[in-house]
Amino acid sequence: MKALLIGGTGLISSGIVKALQTRGASITVFNRGQTENRFGTAIRQLTGDRNDFAAFERTVSAAGPWDVVIEMICFRPDQAESAVRAFRGRCGHFIFCSTVCTYGNTQTIVPTLESTPQHPHSTYGRDKVACEQVFLRAHAAGMMPVTIFRPSHTYGVGGNVINNLGWAPTFVDRLRKGRPIVVSGDGHGLWQSAYADDVGLGFAYAAGRQVCFGEAYNVVADEVVTWDEYTRRTAAAIGAPEPRIVHLPTEFLLALDRPRYVALEEIFRFHGVYSNAKLKQHVPEFRNATPYAEGVRRTVAWMDAHDKIVSADTDPFEDRLVALWDRFQADAAKALPA
Ligand SMILES: NC(=O)c1ccc[n+]([C@@H]2O[C@H](COP(=O)([O-])OP(=O)(O)OC[C@H]3O[C@@H](n4cnc5c(N)ncnc54)[C@H](OP(=O)(O)O)[C@@H]3O)[C@@H](O)[C@H]2O)c1
Repeated sequence: MKALLIGGTGLISSGIVKALQTRGASITVFNRGQTENRFGTAIRQLTGDRNDFAAFERTVSAAGPWDVVIEMICFRPDQAESAVRAFRGRCGHFIFCSTVCTYGNTQTIVPTLESTPQHPHSTYGRDKVACEQVFLRAHAAGMMPVTIFRPSHTYGVGGNVINNLGWAPTFVDRLRKGRPIVVSGDGHGLWQSAYADDVGLGFAYAAGRQVCFGEAYNVVADEVVTWDEYTRRTAAAIGAPEPRIVHLPTEFLLALDRPRYVALEEIFRFHGVYSNAKLKQHVPEFRNATPYAEGVRRTVAWMDAHDKIVSADTDPFEDRLVALWDRFQADAAKALPA
């Protein structure tokens, strides 16, 4: 199988490359050559910027045709249109990496199915829906068979460890130093985190599979955890002390510093619970093989080795916030005795 990944050296991409290697695929990646390539000469490199549409289309078209193309870095419809120009009639199967953010937060069925109507509330989600539509139109017009993959949160080597409030690179150090960890609401919000190598199995084993043509799949973890549980598990996995979790109202956090908490506002404040049953049925090779504790240990080992963990001392905002909250609680207990 001759496979091309647009991207290819990123977090999810690397999981896909590993899984495609187990299928014996001949793998080419197209990217700018800026992100570390962990596969060396085992994969072929095409270098360029996918936003230089003319050069991108020339390069990938000249190196084709392809049995499968996996598009990892398409966020806008003009990028999608460029990909259709590059690959129509020159690719046996086109897989687009979308996101569960395309559903928005108005689902009435839990877990969310692929057939759930899409009402995205972020620009990211809306643009991904527009890209999906470009590709599905190309599929319907017979230009190339298309499959849509919608990952939920995916973590792993090459990435970060998120927390309930966002992507702050200080989270791991906060846990290690036993600093209080703020979790929004009452900590019972539900979350799924999948390991990149497991997500990669879904993409790689869907490649070329006719039952997947014209279909969309959630590619998510089996386990659903509360944010409190997520926080405790992460601390335990990396040998940090049991964290002191401090619950604060979501609206209060957003009113304090909306730009700081944009990920909370757009994503993490909502339950994220998606079904992977359809993917498991059509692509039985997809499985959650990596326990969370193991996945997060590998991720943090990589972050340590690549100096990606930022000291909690560089950002005292949440320490100051918790100190004020503690004082408020003490004052309230004095002023309003039970
Ligand atoms: N991680 C998650 O939780 C999550 C959840 C849902 C959906 N997703 C989707 O996953 C995809 C990201 O996949 P990933 O994790 O493999 O990517 P990633 O970790 O963000 O890496 C980006 C890849 O694309 C390349 N790249 C970036 N900009 C480029 C450009 N202008 N031209 C050419 N190459 C470029 C990078 O290499 P160079 O830097 O060398 O160019 C790298 O190979 C996105 O579509 C995102 O919406 C992710």
